[in-house]
Parts: sequence; structure tokens; C-alpha cells
Amino acid sequence: MISITCWRKLISCLRTSKATPVAKMKPENFTYISKLAKDESGLVLTEKKIYLLDSRLMPIARKMEIETLDELIERIRVRPEPPLVKEVVEALTTNETLFFRDNGPFDRLKENVLPDIMAARGAQKSFRIWSAAASSGQEPYSLAIILSEMAAKMHGWNFEIVGTDLSTEILAKAEAGQYSQFEIQRGMPVQLLVKYFKQEGASWVINDDLRAKVKFMPANLLEDQRGLGQFDIVFCRNVLIYFDPETKGKVLVMIADMMPDDGRLFLGAAETVLGLTEKFKAIPDVRGVYQKT
Ligand SMILES: C[S@@+](CC[C@H](N)C(=O)[O-])C[C@H]1O[C@@H](n2cnc3c(N)ncnc32)[C@H](O)[C@@H]1O
Repeated sequence: MISITCWRKLISCLRTSKATPVAKMKPENFTYISKLAKDESGLVLTEKKIYLLDSRLMPIARKMEIETLDELIERIRVRPEPPLVKEVVEALTTNETLFFRDNGPFDRLKENVLPDIMAARGAQKSFRIWSAAASSGQEPYSLAIILSEMAAKMHGWNFEIVGTDLSTEILAKAEAGQYSQFEIQRGMPVQLLVKYFKQEGASWVINDDLRAKVKFMPANLLEDQRGLGQFDIVFCRNVLIYFDPETKGKVLVMIADMMPDDGRLFLGAAETVLGLTEKFKAIPDVRGVYQKT
């Protein structure tokens, strides 16, 4: 007979082993990989997120016929080949995104921000938008759809949408503009789907007109991106959450330098400028949108 205490111990043991599948990783390897992630992408990898290493890096290890995370990390430590380092860093980033994510920011773009920017740019009739962590393209394509839906008001206007990301692999997907039914169902209204996509087998492909409205290029927010020029509107959503306060502050200062005084910055629902930089302030009653101070 097994006593109740024994059962409790057994259950607790099973829970612990499930929650920390890579707990046996050598501490020096964890230290190395967290430093690499922070230095290369800004990602802060705390021990709470140790589970990420297993799910994100083991597929790379298996592909290389390496059996454990320790072996993979030691391989990088001893011989840090740039393509492998890049693959590992990119695998650790989170690419989660969807069309018209959170809806509200896109409504505020249409109702508040674009009317102000267009009123101020009446003479040159042009403006630029930057999706600064574009992932697989859903955010910049949502922006392109909004502008296409405003065709009557946009007559005679030039605009440019630039989508950038650290990951060249995810940018290739963005550029292809090909999405699964699951990805489409996450946010794309059916009337816009039939207007801007064509079905190819099991996937949906964005039409050429819309694709031509977005330019994609790699850009690491930890590096100086001022060479990309000035942007009237910047979407930098759901990427700063992964950085430490100092890195968030630096990225925000760079973005401020890349915007005219009346530019508008959109951050994600869990992000803010408070306590990070004095360069931006929230716009009262326009949630998630910031202006330069
Ligand atoms: C969670 S997605 C956000 C996508 C989109 N902005 C949204 O809100 O749905 C975060 C993206 O940031 C990118 N990223 C992470 N670190 C980055 C960095 N240092 N520079 C540029 N992009 C980065 C990742 O590759 C990923 O595609």
C-alpha cells in the first residue's frame, strides 16, 4: 500500500519535472545563452522562461543530430558560427501576431491619427509608416488594407509602409504574403479576405496590389536604424515587452529621432513610455498612441 504522503510526493515530483524540462542544463550554458539572446536581440531570458529553450532550440539541435541543449550551446560557445548563432537567436524570439491585432489601435489610426497627419501633410501629400517589429506581415498588411479602404480620401496621395524585423526567416514569410486558414481566421474579416486575398490550395495569398504597398527589410532595433529615414507614424508593438527598461528606453529614443515633431507612435497594449523616456508622452483619450514631447 502506498501512503497518502507518498502519493503527494510522487505527484509533486511529476509536476516539478514537467514544469522544468531543462532543469538539468549546465548553469554556465544557461548564462551563456541568456547573454547571447540579450546582446543580439534584447530578449531578457529569465529562469522562469527556461522552458522556451527546450521548445525553441531542440528542433535546431535535432536537425544537427545533436542530442541535448547543453551540447548545442557548447557547440556555439566553442565555435560561434554566425549562421547558427543567428538561427538560435531568431528561434528564441516570439513571432506571435495577427491581423488587426487588438482592433483599437487600427480604429484610432483611422479616426484620430490619419486625419491629423493628412491635414498636416496637405502640401506634400505624402507620409511614411513603419511597422518596426513586423513579424510575418499581418501588422503592415493590416495597415495597407486600412489605407486601401480609404481609397477615395487617398486620391493623389503617396504613402510608404515599411515592415522590418530582426528575423530574416519571418520576413521571408511576410514577403510571401501566404497565410494558413488558421492565421486568416485570426482577425481578418471575411469581406476584406475576399477583396484582398486569393485562395491557393489550403492557403490564402495576399493580392499583388496590396503586397506592393509594403516594403520589407531586416532591421534589429538594438542597432542604429536612423538610416531608414523619417516616419510619420510608427507601430512598435509587442516587442519592447521582451526588453529590459534600459533597452526599451534606448529604442524609444532612436524611434523619437526617426519621427517628425507631430509624428505618432503606437505601442502594444502591455507597453508604455512611462519611466523609460521623456521623449514621448501619451495622447489623452487616444489609448496606446504617443506623441513627441
Ligand atoms: C510578438 S511579435 C510582434 C508582431 C507585431 N508587431 C504584433 O504586434 O502583432 C515580435 C517581433 O519582434 C521581433 N523582434 C524581436 N527582437 C527584435 C529586435 N531586437 N529588433 C527587431 N525585431 C525584433 C521578433 O522577431 C518578432 O517577429
